[in-house]
This record gives sequence, C-alpha cells and structure tokens, in this order.
Amino acid sequence: MENSKPNELAILGGTPAFNKKLHVGRPNIGNRKRLFERINDALDQRWLTNNGPFVQEFERRIADMFGVIHCIAMCNGTVALEIAIRAAGLTGEVIVPSMTFIATAHALQWLGITPVFCDIDPLTHNLGPQSVEQLITSRTTGIIGVHLWGRPCDAEALGTIARRHNLKLLFDAAHAFGCSYKGRMIGNFGDGEVFSFHATKFFNTFEGGAVVTNNDELAAKIRLMRNFGFAGLDNVVSVGTNGKMSEVSAAMGLTSLETMEDFIATNYRNYKLYQNFLEMIPGVSMLTYNEQEKNNYQYIVLEINEDVTHLNPDQLKDILWAENILARRYFYPGCHRMEPYRSLFPQAGLLLPHTECLVERVLSLPTGTSVGPEDIEKICEIIKFVVKHGQEIRERLIKRAG
Ligand SMILES: Cc1ncc(COP(=O)(O)O)c(C=O)c1O
Repeated sequence: MENSKPNELAILGGTPAFNKKLHVGRPNIGNRKRLFERINDALDQRWLTNNGPFVQEFERRIADMFGVIHCIAMCNGTVALEIAIRAAGLTGEVIVPSMTFIATAHALQWLGITPVFCDIDPLTHNLGPQSVEQLITSRTTGIIGVHLWGRPCDAEALGTIARRHNLKLLFDAAHAFGCSYKGRMIGNFGDGEVFSFHATKFFNTFEGGAVVTNNDELAAKIRLMRNFGFAGLDNVVSVGTNGKMSEVSAAMGLTSLETMEDFIATNYRNYKLYQNFLEMIPGVSMLTYNEQEKNNYQYIVLEINEDVTHLNPDQLKDILWAENILARRYFYPGCHRMEPYRSLFPQAGLLLPHTECLVERVLSLPTGTSVGPEDIEKICEIIKFVVKHGQEIRERLIKRAG
C-alpha cells in the first residue's frame, strides 16, 4: 500500500481488500472422513447421547492428555460453569473479573449468586490477586479466575488467597485448552476448571464444554448434576439438570483432538507472522505469549494507544470491517457495563480502573486455519497504512459522519 491514498480505503469509498470475510473465530475443521466415520458408527449403534462411548473416550483422552483425574464433558461451557459452581457449593458473593465473556458473570447470576467484579492486572489482563483480597467479605464463598486469551492466571497466588480465606477456587479456562502454567497443564488448578469447545474456539465440538478436576467428590457431584441427579435407573438422588454432551459433539471432539497440534501450529505461525508484520507500528502493541509454556495462540490481541494512532479501536474496527476483516472488540465494554450488572452495580467501574482502560484499547484480529500468510501480510499492511494516515482518516470519518 506504499503509494495508496486514504480514499482507496473501503470505508472511504474504495474497494474492499478481501472478497471473503475474515473472522476472528472461524471454526477449525479436522479430518472430515474420520468425523463422518464416527458419526456413522454412532448412528449404526443407535447410541446418540447419555454418556455414550465417544463421550467416554473423549473424557479419557482429555484427562490423560492433561494429567488430570476427572474430565466431565458437557453440552457447552456455560452449563459446565453453572454445574461446577453449584457442585462446588458457591453461594452469596463470588469474585470474578469483569474483563471476560459475559457467560462467566451470567453463570453466577443465573444461580442467584452475586458476581463481584474485580480489576485485572493491566499487564496480564487477568485477576490481580491483591485486588481480589480487597473484595473478600463475610458473604464471599469463592473466586473464579479466567485464563484470558489462554494466558494463565496467577493460580499460585489465587490458591494461597483462597486457602487463607477458606474459599473455593474455580477457573474459567474457556480460552486455555492445551495451555500450561509453570509447566503443568491447565485443568489441574483450583478446585476445578471449565473448558469451552464452542465452534469459535480453536478446538471445537460444535457446542461443548467440560469440567476437569482432581477432586473425586466434586467430580461425582458434577456427574450426577449433569444427568438430572440420576444415580441409576429410576433412582434420582439429588437435583440436577441436563448438561450432557451428545455423541456427535464427542465425535467432533475426538476428531479435533487428532489435528489439535496442527491447529496450534497454524495459530503459532499466524502469531509469529502478525508479530513480525506489526512490529514498530507506533501506538499498536500486540499481546505476547510466554513461549516457555504451552499455548494455543488462538487470540491475536492488539492494544491501541489512541493518543498515538489518532484512531480508537472502534474506528479501526470499522475501517477493517469495510475491508472484510472482521476484527472484534473482545471483551468490550466489560461485564459490569452490560445488563443486568450495569443497573445492579452502577458504581462498579470506580473499582475497575485497569479494566475500564483496557476495554477501550483492545482489538482482536482474525486467525486460525482459514487465515493464510498472505492474508495476514495484507491485514498488517492495511493497519500500518491506516495508522500512518491516522489523523487524516479520523478527520474524514468525522466529516463523513457529521
Ligand atoms: C471466557 C469464556 N467463558 C465462558 C464461555 C462460554 O462457553 P460456551 O459458549 O461454550 O457456553 C466463553 C465462550 O463462549 C468464554 O469465552
């Protein structure tokens, strides 16, 4: 774009740079033949759900892979969170970050528990352990950390706080499948951890999730709750719900496991390319992963310093969308600024200065197996160009709007 002019941008009347839309979380698809064979098998067996053989195999594989004793597969990550929270006996108030997908807060609210929003550490984007401790009251029963972007929380510090105050500690590990913390796989921390295998995650089962834990008692409770409280035929021993994963989802999960390392390798390639092409753009920094740990590299997250770029993430997002680059403002504006929390806790933002600042700066870019190296080069050229001409483009966007 060396010799291009701002009015060649699609948002200012030019032609979009891409014919196809590039998504942040376009599903990764593994080996279709293997998937269809498995689905055929399930149909032949006429075993479609209710703890079928694929679900059992899927659970065993995950538990073995992460060195964790129990894996309980579920219909989605949100129900897995709700069941884990209920089985862990949480009530009253639970401390969570606001910088997360809304399901973390909703799972608590759905169960009549108050989510108490805690600020993040601006460097890690995860719960700041010191901020957590300041929010503990006599009503607090637990902490839910979120391994945002797959980068692990400070599980050690949070564990110490939880023990000191006799609180349960769960992790929303929806982003952290295949990641590690201090050399140990995510899944082994706190009282339990929850994965999501939603279609937009790098590893998917169409819809799906799981709770993983090393606690036998908790696992037994979760298994009961997942299946209406059935302890045997015609024998219901406690209240439960329907959190079961179907055989089709488990078939997808087993098939995805076979190519999981390829998905991660592609994400890593994309991550390095973005890092390389986005280097040295003033006002734009890219979130990095600790390469000493295992990462899935599924999020490419930019932090935009508007004072330097002259464009805010919203304007940049609109410019990219016009080019068919469907960047997302995850996790704007923060749970505390969405309903019902905005009305319930109108002052929450006062305690969340780092969250409030970060949600105004972040922008996630497309990656995954449907985004190739040439796409990334082109996306980065556009960003570079837009930032270079930031002031002029901003003025033209304002003029156009007004
Ligand atoms: C951090 C976080 N928690 C929970 C969920 C909910 O998972 P699911 O969509 O599988 O219900 C998601 C994603 O969807 C998420 O990103």
